[in-house]
Amino acid sequence: MTQAVKAVPSRTAPAVRLTGVSKMFGSGGTALLALDQVDLDVSPGEFVCLLGASGCGKSTLLNLVAGLDGPSAGTIDLGGARVALMFQEPALFPWLTVTANLELALKMRGVPRQDRRDRAAELLDSVHLGGFARKRPHQLSGGMRQRVALARALALTAGADDHGTVLLMDEPFGALDAMTRDLLHDEIERIWRERGLTVLFVTHNVREAVRLGDRVVLLSSRPGRVVREFPVPMARPRRIDSPEVASLAASITDRLREEVGRHGA
Ligand SMILES: Nc1ncnc2c1ncn2[C@@H]1O[C@H](COP(=O)(O)OP(=O)(O)OP(=O)(O)O)[C@@H](O)[C@H]1O
Ligand SMILES: [Mg+2]
Repeated sequence: MTQAVKAVPSRTAPAVRLTGVSKMFGSGGTALLALDQVDLDVSPGEFVCLLGASGCGKSTLLNLVAGLDGPSAGTIDLGGARVALMFQEPALFPWLTVTANLELALKMRGVPRQDRRDRAAELLDSVHLGGFARKRPHQLSGGMRQRVALARALALTAGADDHGTVLLMDEPFGALDAMTRDLLHDEIERIWRERGLTVLFVTHNVREAVRLGDRVVLLSSRPGRVVREFPVPMARPRRIDSPEVASLAASITDRLREEVGRHGA
């Protein structure tokens, strides 16, 4: 029997609280239950990684938290936090320079014109791309584009207290080579810590989840439910190839395999 275990008891109000969240797509004979009564709390400043088989509803869950779609049942409480979503593809405007992409996001957030250039420069510095402001996306490497996408996601939360910002990341580094991904792990960890962000991070990569998360949440195969939560006790920064990370990742992988197998059966 599976059981949802709350790993991180919190005295403060959660930054994100999902209560009994279900999502049904379609209706009648073609209806598909993607998420089934998901309960999940994410504490302010917590880094939570979400793992689960392909099609179990991870992206659906992020979209619901981002407010791009509504749940069929249950509630999602963000306590007034501002949400930024980052996808696997950087989705930058190819005809705009890096700076212009960021300035557009800042404009959408109502940042006054005279402040946008400075804010964009600050954001670019924070992802170590200060020298690339005038480049267009196609002139950057994949890893650099993802860093711009991260800066843009942060731009979309401009004006919000960083401590009230929830960053949702849907397999943001899935398409990158291992070395670039390692560098971006260091960077996202630094930005998360410096800004006090709350992060909900979806990945297929179990080691990546253990490298980054305070907690790893495992969803069941469709319909997605929280089947297990693994606190990650190792000190940061962790190395993705350390024995401690590998060992916890191995036991999570075993549990994930059971889930995939259960679905296959
Ligand atoms: N807009 C939609 N309309 C109908 N069905 C959808 C829609 N979005 C997702 N689904 C279905 O809901 C289920 C969950 O999809 P979702 O994209 O959330 O999975 P996922 O866990 O993110 O998978 P992956 O790991 O492959 O990205 C899938 O069966 C998918 O076909
Ligand atoms: Mg997905």
